[in-house]
Amino acid sequence: MKPILVVDDDPQMRAALKEAIQRTGHQAVLAEDGRDGLAKLERGPFAMVITDMKMPCMDGLTLLREARQKVGKIPFLVITGFGTVENAVDAMKEGASDYLMKPFSFDTLTAKIDAIMERFVSERQIITDSPQMKRLLQLAEDVASGDTTVLICGESGTGKELLARHIHQLSRRREKPFVAVNCAAIPDTLMESELFGHEKGSFTGATERKTGKFELASGGTILLDEIGEMPLGLQAKLLRVLQEKEVDRVGGRQPVRVDIRVIATTNRDLYRETTEGRFREDLYYRLSVFPLVVPPLRERPEDIRLLADVFLRKFSGPADKTICGYTPDAMKFLEGRGWRGNIREFENTIQRAVLLCRGDRITMDELMPDDSPAPNLQRQAGIREMERDLILKTLEETEGNKTRAAKILGVSVRTVRNKLNEYRKIFPGLPGENGCAARSR
Ligand SMILES: Nc1ncnc2c1ncn2[C@@H]1O[C@H](COP(=O)(O)OP(=O)(O)OP(=O)(O)O)[C@@H](O)[C@H]1O
Ligand SMILES: [Mg+2]
Repeated sequence: MKPILVVDDDPQMRAALKEAIQRTGHQAVLAEDGRDGLAKLERGPFAMVITDMKMPCMDGLTLLREARQKVGKIPFLVITGFGTVENAVDAMKEGASDYLMKPFSFDTLTAKIDAIMERFVSERQIITDSPQMKRLLQLAEDVASGDTTVLICGESGTGKELLARHIHQLSRRREKPFVAVNCAAIPDTLMESELFGHEKGSFTGATERKTGKFELASGGTILLDEIGEMPLGLQAKLLRVLQEKEVDRVGGRQPVRVDIRVIATTNRDLYRETTEGRFREDLYYRLSVFPLVVPPLRERPEDIRLLADVFLRKFSGPADKTICGYTPDAMKFLEGRGWRGNIREFENTIQRAVLLCRGDRITMDELMPDDSPAPNLQRQAGIREMERDLILKTLEETEGNKTRAAKILGVSVRTVRNKLNEYRKIFPGLPGENGCAARSR
């Protein structure tokens, strides 16, 4: 088990914290101020950080920010002086897990440590009881040590990104960056420079040199999320990167060498995409050297039961509720559902049920709060309709210009295009058809 890092300039406080931590069964490593803490953080993996806010050299907030940059997401419990709530608020905004106001009791401290650890573990770990998933994890472990490109396929919300991070953690690259790029969220026109970077002045608007994600991930792992969304032109360039291990910055004169492990995910049938001409076949074969398929939640009954329990505990603590389980018909309902949104949808459902629950067990009432799913579906349909009207109206205003419409709406062009495609399936006669049918071929 990884130790907990304690950062405090007051020696008495450090000693007291250490004792409390040891009572929770963890080891403690002590640091005198933010700078000392950061140095220690960089050297070893820690389970979490408990830090004072006001310290000489480097304060707690700066430490929190720097730690994010240098070692990524790690739980932070910040300690603030009496009457300085603003400090705690700032720290929470920066991503601290929780705060403690001085003076506090041993019990409050240990309870917070336990809660944070439990939350973090369930957030970052692949929790499973399913034989299918266990086989998959074994495969992931086998492939992690090398530099083989991995393709992770699975429905939305099944845990593809989590698996990608897991592989990175198991690899010799674990201390190096893990950089995720969501290909579905970046407009086609910007994707090349996002991935490969650009030189200053290489195109209008390129006022500064930009380092691409491939270079940022150097030495580590790059996750190309939703690779099926990558435009064909860029697919050719990506293939070159995979083959040559070098990237061409936009407007650059010389290729830059990169040492990288590539993991790609997709929720589409990529092979079918190749037969339909939307995905390059050569790239497909290059990527699918080691395919991993994450099964949907509905095919993992063991996980439904396990996660129902894990999420129940995760949400009832913070909601200050003591709920001990589910009624039999509630559990049956959970097991029988399609869960098209998989674990993400499942987790949201449990969270809502916990908030609604007044008794000591979750019942059908909380899982289907409106007696029947109909009103819920109606509400969803209503929201979809509003969304559609808003997009269409904005497009009318921009005379069909999707880029401008996307800007006004604060979403990516890709989202606008996807939405239009979706609406067209329902309303075939929709305007703007020509534009959105031209799916980056
Ligand atoms: N086995 C698991 N145990 C606990 N939490 C999980 C598990 N699998 C997924 N989750 C959680 O479910 C959510 C969705 O996971 P993730 O983002 O990895 O899925 P995804 O397949 O990448 O989804 P999308 O296709 O929508 O991008 C995350 O909050 C993740 O932490
Ligand atoms: Mg994902």
